[in-house]
Amino acid sequence: MWTRWIIFLVFGLTQGQLRLDPLVNTKQGLIRGQSASDGDYSMFLGIPYAIVDEDNPFGAAVPHPAFEGVFSAYDESAMCPQVEEYNNTIVGTLDCLHLNIYVPHVASSSNRLPVLVWIHGGAFAHGFSNRYVYGPKFLVQHNVILVTLNYRLGPYGFMCLNTPEVPGNQGLKDQVLALRWIKENIAEFGGDANKITIMGESAGAVSVEYHVYFSDPQLYNQIILQSGSILGSWSVRAPDETAPLQIAHHLGFQTDDSSEALNFLKGVDTRLVIGAVSELELEFGACIEQDFEGVEAFVTGHPLNMDVPNINNVPVLAGFNTQECLFMYGNEPASFFITWNGFNTLLNEIFHYDEEFREMEDIFRHFYIGDEEDNENLKWEIIDFGSDFYFNYPMEQSMKKYIEHGAKAVFRYVFSYSGGRNLMKNSLNVTSDGAAHADEIGYLFDYFKKDTPSEDDQRIIDQITTLWTNFVKYGDPTPDTTELLYVKWNPMTLDTYNYLDIDKELALKKRPFNARMAFWNLFYKANEDKVKIFGVE
Ligand SMILES: *[C@@H]1O[C@H](CO)[C@@H](O)[C@H](O)[C@H]1NC(C)=O
Ligand SMILES: *[C@@H]1O[C@H](CO)[C@@H](O)[C@H](O)[C@H]1NC(C)=O
Repeated sequence: MWTRWIIFLVFGLTQGQLRLDPLVNTKQGLIRGQSASDGDYSMFLGIPYAIVDEDNPFGAAVPHPAFEGVFSAYDESAMCPQVEEYNNTIVGTLDCLHLNIYVPHVASSSNRLPVLVWIHGGAFAHGFSNRYVYGPKFLVQHNVILVTLNYRLGPYGFMCLNTPEVPGNQGLKDQVLALRWIKENIAEFGGDANKITIMGESAGAVSVEYHVYFSDPQLYNQIILQSGSILGSWSVRAPDETAPLQIAHHLGFQTDDSSEALNFLKGVDTRLVIGAVSELELEFGACIEQDFEGVEAFVTGHPLNMDVPNINNVPVLAGFNTQECLFMYGNEPASFFITWNGFNTLLNEIFHYDEEFREMEDIFRHFYIGDEEDNENLKWEIIDFGSDFYFNYPMEQSMKKYIEHGAKAVFRYVFSYSGGRNLMKNSLNVTSDGAAHADEIGYLFDYFKKDTPSEDDQRIIDQITTLWTNFVKYGDPTPDTTELLYVKWNPMTLDTYNYLDIDKELALKKRPFNARMAFWNLFYKANEDKVKIFGVE
């Protein structure tokens, strides 16, 4: 019986057999999926690819062993422990290392489809892979297989203690286990294991870059980076050996011994740990690991100091949005801008800040806000500065670095469109023009806003999903120009800095935010001796 179903799937489902649940034989055993109701594709939800070690939930996970019997992949609800951002509630359990696979019905062993793997963002503290935000229907209609995955977050994913037990980057190592699972098994779903694009937004884009720097290059063939760079100051953090003590103390467990605190935390309900981390405002992220015998290290160097040989001949699609930092500063009250002082605090993260540097801070200030003191009318200038600091300049440096290291092509975009589905602006109820961080996600994915898209929004959905999936299929977002994609998207070169402006009209332009980027370039050149290796110095 099973064998027949597998054969049906492998050779492609025909009209008459659509009601059969698809069954796939993976290395872990049989997985049963179901047919989607909003398109011609099958869904395999909540496949566990790895297991968190109960005795050490802050340490490495292990690959999932074989399933007993048939695994019914119907439940996408698993989330890793976190404060989720939509209702601001503490959710999740450690049984969360799951992935979801969406397979167009045309996929078969004789018609293998390219594979797109989505790594969600959320500052390494929030996020999940399910259809609440990442509904697949816009992407899979272009006949690519979409995989979305969870990884551990916050203290469970990114506690970094410089010990063999908790060496750091557990969440990135979870992703590696997921990528290995996909590479090994996706052919059984009708996927082409040699045509895998990994794609992420924000911390997801930073994650993708971590894989470019440190994973086995066999695990992927192409990359898509949306609004995040490994060269930004938040992508590497210093280890914080005091974290277990702080959390344990907050929960009423008194000790001065970090490993005692950690042992205590291993047995505490994850919701209490997440609640304490949130109240303490502790932040976690990737760190540079020390070498320990018998421990597989992942992040072994600082990206600022490293070459990227693994990008050689890899096609890249990358870009950012016009008003990235609207999500941080867009809804702040006037008082926030009066006491902001961000030129000082942010520049201090990336430059050695001494007396001499004070003058440099003034140059920055004058460039963005002239002679004004911080005040509430400067919101837009401050959003520009924050966007350049966190996203735009580091991303441009990443793209340049990839070209210098032989990337096959870097297709660069700026997402400028403001419509009815801008995800972040809608979530924050911000109505100004431009596109904030994460706004483009609303046009790539069918998220919780379920009303029918306007005509303009639908065209942007069609354009961006066709561009992205053309890239997934052909390594080129515009192999031909069409009525829908009427502009040839030429890649960026070190001379031209082409980018596609994705707005109501598509247009090929050059050098986004030219004056601002030129200012940053000059500033870095003038202060080479003061550049910090953030997260280390
Ligand atoms: C947020 O709350 C709404 C309404 O109760 C619910 O439908 C939705 O699933 C929740 N979202 C998350 C991410 O928990
Ligand atoms: C969103 O903003 C508009 C205009 O400022 C306001 O009328 C509306 O009540 C807000 N909605 C929510 C859900 O906050």
